[in-house]
Amino acid sequence: MRAQEIDRERNLALPSISSTDRELKESGAWFESRDQLMRDQEKSQVMAYLESQAHDLGFDLVKRKSEYAEDLDNFPLEQILKYACFVAGGRGSGKSNLLKLLVCECLSQKVEVKVKIFDPSLTWKSLPLPKVKVTSENLEVVSQWNTIYDISRLSVLHARKFVMHMLSEDLKEAVCLTDIGRKPRCLVILEESQNLIPSHSLRSMKFAEISRFLTQGRNFGLSFVASTQRLASCDINLVEVSGVKYWFRMSGHRNIVKTRFWLSKYETWNLRNLEVGSCYIQIGSRIKLLKLPLFKTEKVIVQ
Ligand SMILES: Nc1ncnc2c1ncn2[C@@H]1O[C@H](COP(=O)(O)OP(=O)(O)OP(=O)(O)O)[C@@H](O)[C@H]1O
Ligand SMILES: [Mg+2]
Repeated sequence: MRAQEIDRERNLALPSISSTDRELKESGAWFESRDQLMRDQEKSQVMAYLESQAHDLGFDLVKRKSEYAEDLDNFPLEQILKYACFVAGGRGSGKSNLLKLLVCECLSQKVEVKVKIFDPSLTWKSLPLPKVKVTSENLEVVSQWNTIYDISRLSVLHARKFVMHMLSEDLKEAVCLTDIGRKPRCLVILEESQNLIPSHSLRSMKFAEISRFLTQGRNFGLSFVASTQRLASCDINLVEVSGVKYWFRMSGHRNIVKTRFWLSKYETWNLRNLEVGSCYIQIGSRIKLLKLPLFKTEKVIVQ
């Protein structure tokens, strides 16, 4: 094949001086172009094969990864109880507002789900629920549902120890209740989860108990909603085990890059410009853009 033909096929601009076949072979460019062409052909054959296989199996590889689903519920509590939930977004993007709306749903008469909130930044102060201030001298507080645990005075290490101990106790209790046929319906809110479950932590033995809660708790009626403003610093397994995901406005290259595990390029790009209170809700490959209302404390009715 002549050099010009190779160039034409690869859609490259022709050099102003055309070389002879011999010169090209000697410089190695001829072989390089031939190999590239063969690789491209192989790739297109493999793609064609995969597409035909995918078509036979009933899905389309060429289409976008995410499927827009306007019918998705804004607060799919039953799904969250079954598969847990992860909320990611930059500072002040509206994560806590969403969590409060979710808690409000849980406490409503319709669903009757018990909640437990670990509050590291006094965001939940105004909610009309019992509050327990946890200090480093008093980490062994009694576990109660429909309660806010103020862990703002604790160091990150103490907070981790406290939350881990409480979740492990809750799991033991839930196992016993399930065993006697009284499976609970409870949701734990883990704010700033990058501090409680940092990158790669779930592999280590120190985090074995929290890992057990996150992965097996749902079998015994215990689920969680974890939020973070630093997706890049969170354990990836925490996001993986969460069936429902909310994505708020995000910045920071490392955070944005990490969203690409779950979102298409289009949504990832849009995340940078979302308004406060707007987010994507994602369940599996189904996704929808939401505009959430501002939470009002007066709407909380505690049973
Ligand atoms: N849906 C909304 N509509 C209007 N304003 C909102 C909405 N959600 C949040 N806000 C405003 O944005 C502010 C920050 O919201 P919020 O505390 O929920 O953000 P955050 O993501 O939890 O922030 P941080 O990362 O600091 O915890 C709120 O005080 C509120 O004024
Ligand atoms: Mg917050």
